Amino acid sequence: MLGRVKQFLISISGTFKRLDEDYLVEHLDKSQLTLFLKLSKIDAQHSIRVAKAMEKDAPEDLKHLYAGIGLFHDIGKCRRPLSIAEKVAIVLAHAMLKEKLKRFLKFKAVETYMEHGRIGAEILEGRGIFYDVPWVREVVRYHHDMYYSYLGESDTESLFNGAMNSLRLADNEN
Ligand SMILES: [Fe+2]
Ligand SMILES: [Fe+2]
Repeated sequence: MLGRVKQFLISISGTFKRLDEDYLVEHLDKSQLTLFLKLSKIDAQHSIRVAKAMEKDAPEDLKHLYAGIGLFHDIGKCRRPLSIAEKVAIVLAHAMLKEKLKRFLKFKAVETYMEHGRIGAEILEGRGIFYDVPWVREVVRYHHDMYYSYLGESDTESLFNGAMNSLRLADNEN
């Protein structure tokens, strides 16, 4: 719980800082940047922190790709950006109700919070982002499903697992 509180305080402080535009321009093209900027400021700052942490952790030839995964891992949240009050309410409800929160999926705010991985993968697919590395979209889709194991081509399985582990670590710490 303390980790969550710390994460929340970091996210609030991020709203007062400028987005690292140089970093975004380095890793995103114009249409990707337009999509990224649909995120709320809190989610955008979080995604940049995750991207930088993942990039630092990445094998040399995967640094740019890992940065892209970090930047877009929560892109599903742009479908229904939450106010700070809504976010607090849903995080608390999730802590209390756990999986039972799924009963409230008919509310767009809850659906976005609970299903942003799937929604994000669909947005990326619709825009052709990561089209040559479809396993990356699966990382985005399943990044909160702790017990998911990859069912794609075996040669991409280790790429998937490496990126997923890196994302989960960076996501928890940022
Ligand atoms: Fe997420
Ligand atoms: Fe995240």
